[in-house]
Order: sequence, then C-alpha cells, then structure tokens
Amino acid sequence: MTNIVAVGIQWGDEGKGKIVDVIAPHMNIVARFQGGPNAGHTLVVGGKKIVLHHIPSGILHAGVKCFIGNGTILEAQGIVEEMDSLTQAGFDIEGQLFISERTHLIMPYHIALDKAREQSKGKAKIGTTGCGIGPTYEDKAARRGIRLADLSAKNIEERLTNNLEYYNFMLREYYKAPEVDMADVQASLALLRDRVLPFSANVSALLHAAEQQGQRLLYEGAQGLMLDTDHGTYPFVTSSNTVAGSAMAGLGVGALSATEIVGIAKAYCTRVGSGPFPTELFDETGTFLAEKGHEFGATTGRARRTGWFDAVAVRHAVQVNGLTGLIITKLDVLDGLKEIKLCTSYELNGETLNHVPALAQDMNDSKAIYQSFAGWEGSTYGLTSPDDLPKEAQALLDAISQICDCPVVMLSTGPDRDHVMWLSDTLK
Ligand code: GDP
Ligand code: IMO
Ligand code: MG
Repeated sequence: MTNIVAVGIQWGDEGKGKIVDVIAPHMNIVARFQGGPNAGHTLVVGGKKIVLHHIPSGILHAGVKCFIGNGTILEAQGIVEEMDSLTQAGFDIEGQLFISERTHLIMPYHIALDKAREQSKGKAKIGTTGCGIGPTYEDKAARRGIRLADLSAKNIEERLTNNLEYYNFMLREYYKAPEVDMADVQASLALLRDRVLPFSANVSALLHAAEQQGQRLLYEGAQGLMLDTDHGTYPFVTSSNTVAGSAMAGLGVGALSATEIVGIAKAYCTRVGSGPFPTELFDETGTFLAEKGHEFGATTGRARRTGWFDAVAVRHAVQVNGLTGLIITKLDVLDGLKEIKLCTSYELNGETLNHVPALAQDMNDSKAIYQSFAGWEGSTYGLTSPDDLPKEAQALLDAISQICDCPVVMLSTGPDRDHVMWLSDTLK
C-alpha cells in the first residue's frame, strides 16, 4: 500500500495541482490538509484550464474521493463559486467531496483585517493574498474561531457577535478602516448552511476506514516549504505549516500513514509577495522565465518574482519534509537558455552558508553562489520519455538530485496532464 504526501518545496506555485491531477487516477482519495483560498492550483486537461483554491486536485477524476481536512480553512463564497464552476464544467461533485466538520471558517471580518493590516504596513507588508488567512488561523489558535461544526452550536450567534465586536474595534480604532456589517457575516453563514454544510463529514473517521480497506490516499499540500510558518522565511510566510508532517495533524490520520513523501519544485524559482529570495533575477533572464513560464498568480493575478533554482532551499525542504522523491516541473521553460544556474550555497558576510538561515534579514543579505550548466538545443515541451531528454537536461537533473540528496521521481514538461515523465514506479 502506498500513501503519498505531495508538497511544494519552494515558495508555492510549483505545479502541485497539475502533479496531483496526474497521480490521482492511481489513488482512491485526495485530501487537502492545510491552507485555504490563498492556494491556486491549476489543472490543464486537453488545453482547458481549471483553477482550484479549496477543492483537492483529484476532483476531475470521478472515481477519486476528495477530502478537505480539519487543518484547512474555507471561505463560503469562494468555495461555492468553485463548486459551481466545476458543476458548470460538467463535473458532478456530490458524493465525491467531503469537508471536515472541524474546518475553520474565514469570515468577512478576517478578510477585512488582513487587508487593513497589510495596508497599514506599507512597504513592510507581507504581500498576503488578502484572503483572511492570517486572522483565521490566529482565531483558531486563540480559541475563538468558528468551525463548520459550530454552525449548529447553540451559542453561535453570541460568539459571532463577540468576534465582530472585537474585530470592528480593531478595524475602527487601530487601523482606521471601515467596519464589517453583521449582515455580511449573516450572509456568509447562510451560504455555509445552505451550500457547504451538506458536504460536512468526519474526515478523520472516513480516512481511517479507507486505510483499513487498503485504499490509497494522497495528501495534497498547498503553498510551499519556504512559506511554512516554522520552517520558511519567517515572518514572510503563510500562517499554516506546509511541511509534510502537518498532513497527519491536518487530517487526523496516523503519523505512519504516508509511505512516500514527494516534494514538488520548479526547475527554477518563483515567489509572490515580499520576503527574501537569494536567487532572484532582475535581468532579461528573469523576464524570460516570467514570460515563458506565464508567472502570474492563480489567486491574485500578481506577477511572480523569478530566479534560479535554489538547491540550498530544496536541501532544507528534503530534510524537514523527509522527502523520498523530487518532482521537477516546468523543465520546458528552460528550453532556449544558453546557460542554466543552480544555487549550491549562500555567502553571508564573507562566510559560506550551506543551510537556510533562521533570520530573514540574513537570508536577504545572502548572496547566491552558483554552479553553471550548459543549456540545450531544441524543445523538451511535452516529452514523456527519458530517452528523448537532451543530455544537458539529463545532466542538470542528475546534479539537482545529487546536490539535494534526493532522487527525481517525476518530471513535468508542460502544463497539460499528458506532459509528464514517470521516472519511478513508486507513485503508481
Ligand atoms: P500550484 O499552486 O503549485 O498548483 O501551481 P500553480 O497552478 O499556481 O502554478 C503552476 C503553473 O504552471 C500553472 O499555470 C500550471 O498550468 C503550469 N505548469 C505546471 N507544470 C508545468 C510544466 O511542466 N510546464 C509548463 N510550461 N507549465 C506548467
Ligand atoms: P499555492 O498553493 C504562492 C504567499 C503570499 C504571501 C504569503 C502570505 O498556489 O502554491 P497569505 O495570504 O497566505 O497570508 O500570504 O504567502 N502565498 C502563496 N504564494 N502560492 C501560494 O499557494 C500561496 N499562498 C500564499 O503571496 O507572500
Ligand atoms: Mg498556485
């Protein structure tokens, strides 16, 4: 039995959605364990694009059940729009989607506070997606959050009134921002009761039963390791643990549940929002990667910052996730470059660093030290057989595997479901 955790290991947008969609037909269940609508996972099937934010990327496969775990957070309007767009595209999600009753809810006041806080920070802003992620996870830890199960709690109105009073006080008095209306909160609640509550389930129990029947489970991460609250470039991170280990806490499955842990990385690097990025490129190569890779955020439409592959960051990810395999995406974007670089260490104040520093300022001041590789002639777009890879591309992949101390088990050579190269059978 193989259960797989699939996580991003850079700053998000590595192509997790595409990879999960590719592996999903070999699985019975795909489950999301953290994050919320800040995620934007793009699936391309026969040239047609579908972007998912809350819903697991197995949903396009009718036989695959999809679970949203207790570690995730959800926003009423966003998830309903997502469900409706899937229905309109001809996918019947009833009986296929299950949402943990312990999932915390993003309320209009969370979104208002996220935005007000970012605005007040000016240049020092995190560059959040503005979806209310930080405040919702803060409420969870502060024990005043509202979960799907709480919709039937007797004191729900009283708790919401208290929360709104608290948030409006902060918005009005501290941020000098507009307050949130109770009517908006009630509208969100009504939508949740009408459209989301029917999908609520005891996800942990369902997963446990599935495991006992020998079903195959895939745990789909959102964001990436460098955005993990503990292991990323704090404070320029998201507000959940993106590391593979949090799959167990975020779904309520046993710590030994996964047998393979794969880390997904682009053959280069991108980052949306603020924060350190040692390999960032500000030259024509950076523009080339942004344009050829269509590097615009799937959630906010913001331009993504681009740079060379950072093997220091990926080595860090191999270690803290306990990766058993790497999946490299967007190799085709490097087609046509004469020279390709991998960052193998950082230099900080004249010293060589082989690890990711804890202090964001140190990471910001770190200079990337590179190993250079020859580019290749011709196109790798859509290749499916390792025999067709240019020898320079193979050399680059061998170097990534060796420097990061982890085998490359799959390669993605284009956005479509079919643009994939299986390099190992462990995921099938
Ligand atoms: P995610 O958040 O990790 O799921 O990634 P996103 O969907 O935000 O961003 C990845 C983008 O790259 C999407 O537009 C994908 O369609 C696209 N993509 C994924 N894999 C490949 C690939 O191998 N080559 C190319 N050219 N595009 C890819
Ligand atoms: P997927 O799943 C890329 C970034 C934001 C910001 C920081 C905090 O598509 O890879 P938040 O709204 O979470 O409080 O923002 O994290 N961020 C992402 N960047 N891909 C994502 O998700 C992201 N989700 C959040 O840009 O820098
Ligand atoms: Mg994305």
